Amino acid sequence: MGNTLIADENILLEDYVPSEMIHRDGQRQEMANALKPATVGRQISNVFLYGDTGVGKTSLTRWMFRELEKHSSRRVATVYINCWKRSTSHAILIEILISLGTFINHKQPTNELIDTLEKHCAKNSLSLIVALDEVDQLNDEELLYTLSRGKFGLVLISNDAYAFIDTDSRIKSSLNLRSIEFPKYKPADIAEIIRLRADYALIPGAIDDELVSVMAHKAKGDARVGIDMLKRAALVAEERGKSKIEIDDVLKSVGEEQFLRRDRILPKLNNDQRILFDVVESAGEIMSSELFEKYSTVATDPIKERTYRKYMESLVKQKVIDAEGEGRWRKYKVLG
Ligand SMILES: Nc1ncnc2c1ncn2[C@@H]1O[C@H](COP(=O)(O)OP(=O)(O)OP(=O)(O)O)[C@@H](O)[C@H]1O
Ligand SMILES: [Mg+2]
Repeated sequence: MGNTLIADENILLEDYVPSEMIHRDGQRQEMANALKPATVGRQISNVFLYGDTGVGKTSLTRWMFRELEKHSSRRVATVYINCWKRSTSHAILIEILISLGTFINHKQPTNELIDTLEKHCAKNSLSLIVALDEVDQLNDEELLYTLSRGKFGLVLISNDAYAFIDTDSRIKSSLNLRSIEFPKYKPADIAEIIRLRADYALIPGAIDDELVSVMAHKAKGDARVGIDMLKRAALVAEERGKSKIEIDDVLKSVGEEQFLRRDRILPKLNNDQRILFDVVESAGEIMSSELFEKYSTVATDPIKERTYRKYMESLVKQKVIDAEGEGRWRKYKVLG
């Protein structure tokens, strides 16, 4: 079947970085002020971006990294890491070195990796900026200290404004973070974001403003939900061979946020988190102690109880798992 409606599906993908980031001028300016010194080889200010889900933290970071690499006289290297996927210092350093194209030995201990990284940047006179997204998943905050002492720039990102509240004051003062808040979008902002995306991704006239507005209200301040609705509606309409999205295509696409959330979170989980999720899902509902026991029999190298509690809290915070009760009476079940 031919494309009756979607001109470029890539533009509707979740990790597509828009050419324009609208309604984020203040945040963009603050971030640019903090990071720009890197382009002339000066020390940058580390930043902490926080705000609810779908407010543009990740995409503004990627957008800014692209700009910095494009427009600098000196070589600025940027590396983006999601700490859901890589949460240990060792894994993060390996990932940084790999993306810089350096040869590494995976068996090298962490301190040697840091050494290699420092030497590599000095030799190539690189200013390195590292983004650690979903930084509350990081296992070892010492890495933040090491990286900031090593004069690398850091962009730390979290949904949680208080992500660093329990962090050691020695680490906090070495980081010297500038915080940048990302408030939720208003429906009118989301409408413009959806409109702009539709104009790039769909054929002209594919969607009317009234329908964009319906989606924008349903998105409740979350641009990801808004864009996902547009994508789903476009796919439904195209499947029906239409060249214009109609209200019933839109209605079919709302109320599926829970599935969207799941699709988005599950691929990000590490092995242990995934086992935990699967055990909860197959049990329907399970007590915390029983879950940990079952998990421990399945996992090859089980995590400690403290990490277990941390993983469960983040699965709850990401709204893929629901929790009830406290302490030994805590019960879990899968949401959606
Ligand atoms: N200002 C904007 N202009 C254009 N597109 C935007 C804007 N803000 C967000 N988006 C789009 O909305 C989607 C979600 O944004 P993003 O991934 O940056 O959110 P986030 O704040 O990182 O959310 P989370 O905390 O869940 O990771 C992306 O597809 C992004 O391209
Ligand atoms: Mg993000």
